[in-house]
Amino acid sequence: MNNFVFQNPTKIFFGKDQVQNVGTETAKYGKTVLVVTGGGSVKRSGLFDRVIDLLNKEGLTIHELSGVEPNPRLSTVKKGIEICKKENVDIVLAVGGGSVLDAAKGICAGAKYDGDVWDFYAKKATIQDALPLGTVLTLAATGSEMNGNSVVTNWETKEKIGVGSPYLYPKFSILDPTYTFTVPKDQTVYGIVDIMAHVFEQYFSHTPNTPLQDQISESILRTVIEQAPIVIEKPDDYDARANILLAGTMALNGLINMGKQTDWATHAMEHEVSAIYDIPHGGGLAIIFPNWMKYVYEENIEKFKQYAIRVWGVTTEGKTDQEIAHEGIEKTREFFNSIGAPATFGDYNIGDENIELMAKKATRGGTIGNFKKLTEDDVKNILTMCL
Ligand code: NZQ
Ligand code: ZN
Repeated sequence: MNNFVFQNPTKIFFGKDQVQNVGTETAKYGKTVLVVTGGGSVKRSGLFDRVIDLLNKEGLTIHELSGVEPNPRLSTVKKGIEICKKENVDIVLAVGGGSVLDAAKGICAGAKYDGDVWDFYAKKATIQDALPLGTVLTLAATGSEMNGNSVVTNWETKEKIGVGSPYLYPKFSILDPTYTFTVPKDQTVYGIVDIMAHVFEQYFSHTPNTPLQDQISESILRTVIEQAPIVIEKPDDYDARANILLAGTMALNGLINMGKQTDWATHAMEHEVSAIYDIPHGGGLAIIFPNWMKYVYEENIEKFKQYAIRVWGVTTEGKTDQEIAHEGIEKTREFFNSIGAPATFGDYNIGDENIELMAKKATRGGTIGNFKKLTEDDVKNILTMCL
């Protein structure tokens, strides 16, 4: 296990009707709030009205930015920054899925910066300050509710890039599983894949002596695998939605990467695909991850064997290590198929036309990943396997 520092300042309100705290929590950070929402789901469900009502009860001045896109756009983040600067906003409140939260984080950082907020994503500047952020999450997937990451797409340059900063952790996040009841089946599936992908990125590592981190990771995976068919069959099953929601938060809040080198090559590749084709993040991951696994497993076959046995219950008798590892990877693919996730780029009508470009962009800063350091050619090979 490597040395590490861990600090996660986000206060979580989890469970039924925890939204009742939104007014009092928000009021702790000032008088003027910018409420950020997506394409309308929170208005249709009534959640938006409830939040506004609770903010009004605290006498807060409310401004609104709606219309944050899935794969949130830099242009939308800039609109929010403009409102914050003009109206002297004290706190931003994001109500929605990961895209709304990520856009709100960009707004919080940009509101305290004189330059172009894209500088942070392009790594030309480091975030030194940000407005406080509160969130009411409506979709289990990204972990953005309890981490300091924001992923934004610059549509002009076709770049989708993430930035991480201690300043971007939400001050509080409200997680009520009932708000995830209305998430459509496809988005539920993408969320499930994303949660599992976050665990994979941190689990498949060469760092020795991480039994606790590994077994917590395996528990998250097993819980998601067990609960996924229930939420897909019965979207309003509170207990199953709660379990998936908690799994999503725990998968990317710093819990399972303590003292470990992590990978993130598959996310880097997926971001290049989304940046050009605007496909859902979880859909891209479902296609790429099993192929990444096939491409890299020989770098540490023991780890893949452990995964196959502990997560999928693969039996070992009479099988080689290679066969066991392979079976684990096949089970992953089969599981994604069983919940209706896409399997090839063809499912999104993506051909080989941009593979070279995506490989070049993914490796613009050098190799990606750590489990196997992927070169431009490696990325090309993996993306070709996805066709
Ligand atoms: O826009 P609205 O109308 O709200 O509809 C959304 C959107 O169409 C809908 N939705 C959300 N909650 C709903 C709902 N529909 C009905 N009922 C509800 N309760 O779902 C659609 C997708 O929403 P989005 O926020 O885009 O999904 P998700 O939470 O999966 O976020 C994906 C984004 O997060 C980034 C991804 O790259 C992608 O841009 N990521 C962020 C990370 C982070 N901050 O740590 C890490 C991840 O790896 C990921 O890269
Ligand atoms: Zn992800």
